[in-house]
Amino acid sequence: MTGHTRVHGKHGDFAIEAKGLVKRFKSGKSFVEVLKNVDFDARHGDLTMVMGPSGSGKSTLIAALSGLLRPEEGRVDTLDVDDLWKLSGSRIDKFRLDHCGFIFQGFNLFPALSAIQQVEVVLKFQGLSKADARRQAQITLEEVGLGHRLHQKPSALSGGEKQRVAIARALAKNPQILFADEPTSALDGENGQVVIRLLRRAATEHGAAVICVTHDPRLEAWADRVIHIEDGVIIDDQRRIPNPDATLASH
Ligand SMILES: Nc1ncnc2c1ncn2[C@@H]1O[C@H](COP(=O)(O)OP(=O)(O)OP(=O)(O)O)[C@@H](O)[C@H]1O
Ligand SMILES: [Mg+2]
Repeated sequence: MTGHTRVHGKHGDFAIEAKGLVKRFKSGKSFVEVLKNVDFDARHGDLTMVMGPSGSGKSTLIAALSGLLRPEEGRVDTLDVDDLWKLSGSRIDKFRLDHCGFIFQGFNLFPALSAIQQVEVVLKFQGLSKADARRQAQITLEEVGLGHRLHQKPSALSGGEKQRVAIARALAKNPQILFADEPTSALDGENGQVVIRLLRRAATEHGAAVICVTHDPRLEAWADRVIHIEDGVIIDDQRRIPNPDATLASH
């Protein structure tokens, strides 16, 4: 098996180490606490699964960890950064651009762009030349099995193909941290399996810390670690041995 050879940041094996996260939302005259003093960490090379009922705070947690939504309390140490939330807004955006990939349930593709353009845009934004961006975009789309769909727009792609474009877009820059929020829930079993295997590979072969929110307990088979959150509190955290060859067969 090809192990990853990432040079880790100052926090060692931890790609993210968050402590005491509290997030509140205003609801009428009072506040609802959606993250209640959450400690969370994720390691390079691990596929960490975050599971929990609807409304338990999973997406809020991802947003607080990735610099998208400022928590009221707590800190997030990540890669070479001591407390992400102490950086300026533009430094946080730069951190996300340089080191994080995102995959969402709804794909979030640009309707007017072809598959290869969706991936190129991100790479050009990172500073790659047009030619390098094109080359890297093509290689990554081939890796996710879309070499024959480079020039299709989202409207001409199936759900599974769209999600693979979104994954290629997230993986093309070889991010140290990959956030996936319900990446398979809009897909059938076969396409879901393609997606979870790609996430598994990003962890194993590229050493990414993959943090995957899901409702689907069948995805646990691929995980190194399964964390359960309920009502803003982590109630369970188990390490397990992943099975990269597991199947998500729909019967
Ligand atoms: N911007 C917001 N303003 C107010 N309340 C919010 C906001 N975002 C989320 N919430 C509330 O916070 C709670 C947690 O939301 P969150 O989206 O993190 O849940 P989730 O676990 O991701 O759920 P799901 O599985 O349905 O995606 C919910 O009760 C939600 O209504
Ligand atoms: Mg959510």
